[in-house]
Amino acid sequence: MPDQHSAIQQARDRLARAGAITVLTGAGISADSGVPTFRGADGLWRNFRAEDLATPEAFQRDPNLVWAWYNWRRELIATKRPNPAHYAVAELERRRDCFWLVTQNVDGLHQAAGSRKLSELHGNIWKVRCTVCEKVTENREVPIPIPPTCLACGGLLRPHIVWFGETLNATDLDHGMKAAASCEVMVIIGTSGIVYPAASLAPLARAAGAFVIEINREPTPLGGIADLSFQGRASEVVPVLLDFDDRPSE
Ligand code: OAD
Repeated sequence: MPDQHSAIQQARDRLARAGAITVLTGAGISADSGVPTFRGADGLWRNFRAEDLATPEAFQRDPNLVWAWYNWRRELIATKRPNPAHYAVAELERRRDCFWLVTQNVDGLHQAAGSRKLSELHGNIWKVRCTVCEKVTENREVPIPIPPTCLACGGLLRPHIVWFGETLNATDLDHGMKAAASCEVMVIIGTSGIVYPAASLAPLARAAGAFVIEINREPTPLGGIADLSFQGRASEVVPVLLDFDDRPSE
């Protein structure tokens, strides 16, 4: 790896020259906004059992318990704001015709920062889906009255989130895979890189010839395929890397 200064310059040059850029984000980009990650020291999966709260079986067994947990998360996320990393990613989208953001986050902070070209691979905590008619609607009630019911058909509503054991939305995944396979540079921010299929997008991009840049507080398995890895906080590192001059250096 080059020293930090030349690594930053190299990343900026690659980004400045790239026609097509894809960004992949995980919980780490929202950590600096105060949203808990899943696997860190205070991560959600350290303190809660996913099988009790984030599976279709758990919801079938006790929908009120699952909704109480999502209400707690909605209350927490409702107080959070995007950080400089979210804003830098949104600005990058504005500067590029060929840009796509693939996020595993459900918190909506990318949209709050202005991102519009994105796939939310794991859903969105501010959307609900009817378990009967499957209608998806935005719902920002905090807390949502439990148990929430569908205005269209009266069926029980569930969070519009991909739970363990469920398949991802085919359109979102397809879009994410195409964006990975066709980009010239992929920027990966704040994901542990162990949850599939999201984790497969980086190797897919690399195999298709993309230059891969990773930003994370800690080393991850994705570091092995990254051309450049930056260890640090997303809110500090991402704005520095994405603050490049669009005119490529000679
Ligand atoms: P994880 O909690 O697994 O990983 C968060 C990553 O962010 C770790 O690699 C941390 O080192 C890194 N990190 C933490 N703070 C950071 C900071 N300030 N700056 C940069 N990096 C930081 O979260 P994900 O990889 O997003 O799925 O997890 C993937 C999926 O697993 C989630 O979408 C969720 C979970 O089960 C569903 O809810 C469906």
